[in-house]
Amino acid sequence: MTMVTFLHPDGTTALAVEAPPGTRLLDLAQAHGLPLEGTCEGAMACSTCHVLVAQADFAKLPKASVHEEDMLDFAAHAGPTSRLACQIWLQAELESLTLHLPAGHTNMQGR
Ligand code: FES
Repeated sequence: MTMVTFLHPDGTTALAVEAPPGTRLLDLAQAHGLPLEGTCEGAMACSTCHVLVAQADFAKLPKASVHEEDMLDFAAHAGPTSRLACQIWLQAELESLTLHLPAGHTNMQGR
């Protein structure tokens, strides 16, 4: 199990929950009501699932694909540890993972 913590932009905890290997980060966030729109449902066509990985955890994740990197160019508030939550699956060896919700998203649904 991985202890996954999502932090609000102000640093307060939005969600802290354990999840099993194979869980996709976007699905976990949405199941708990976090504001990750995920408009394209993982097709890497929207960037509304953008999160910022904690610096200490960034290197623990498999590298982003070139396509993911390209999509991150469209993400609002992107930084050097930005990832798309639809492209991160928890792995058994990952004990903990901390993520920051960005201060805003590129809104694809006009809400
Ligand atoms: Fe659209 Fe992740 S859900 S890029």
